Amino acid sequence: MKIERFDNDDVLAATLATRLIAAISLKPRIVLGLPTGRTPVALYREVRSRSHRGHVDWSQVRTFNLDEFVGLGAGDAGSYRSYMQAELFDHVRIEPLNVGMLDGRAASLAAECARYERAIERAGGLDIQILGIGANGHIGFNEPADALDAKTHVAALQGETRRANAGLFGGELGRVPTHALSMGMATILRAQEIVLMATGAEKSEAVAGMIDGPLTTRLPASFLQVHPRVTVMLDRGAARRLT
Ligand code: PGA
Repeated sequence: MKIERFDNDDVLAATLATRLIAAISLKPRIVLGLPTGRTPVALYREVRSRSHRGHVDWSQVRTFNLDEFVGLGAGDAGSYRSYMQAELFDHVRIEPLNVGMLDGRAASLAAECARYERAIERAGGLDIQILGIGANGHIGFNEPADALDAKTHVAALQGETRRANAGLFGGELGRVPTHALSMGMATILRAQEIVLMATGAEKSEAVAGMIDGPLTTRLPASFLQVHPRVTVMLDRGAARRLT
């Protein structure tokens, strides 16, 4: 793992935005795996502002988001689809057909998960997967457990994760869905390259475990240790417990 420390969130986001845009110009048909949450908000703000007036050619870029809440989809406030439209897709000239999102309202969730795996495969696999990390060490919605799912699956959300997402639902915990669809550990680990961003002291324990701790399903992000090309981008708070 390559560990990089930044003075603050803005410098981290600007650095990653520069790299992403360089990667798009090097490989216009790049396949990106994208996260949601609070951490990437600054990244998407940077990417949008630099994509203004056609400065970045998004016309062939393909994306797959990590996860989506069960029961929610396009047009639902609180869905990750709505988040992505507002934070990025509505502001860049990406082809709607090139945007991959899990449909949390699919009639068959199992079929939807299988469709997603096939779509990623047909696109040639993920070139770069960008990740956040939960304070409990989750990536995507791969929550700490005795065993982890390899492929895209239906995940039961832990209380801590639902609380962390309450902001998307007006702060009302009762409105946060109990389940989500998520890429699995193997789906993520098959990406050619992985970049994990973490900001804030509340992530420092998970970050330290991910980097220095044992490989364990109790801290799903620790599995990134086996991937050959991972960059971990941290602000001061998130790096606090590293030696
Ligand atoms: P956050 O979520 O960016 O909102 O902290 C990260 C994650 O849960 O993966």
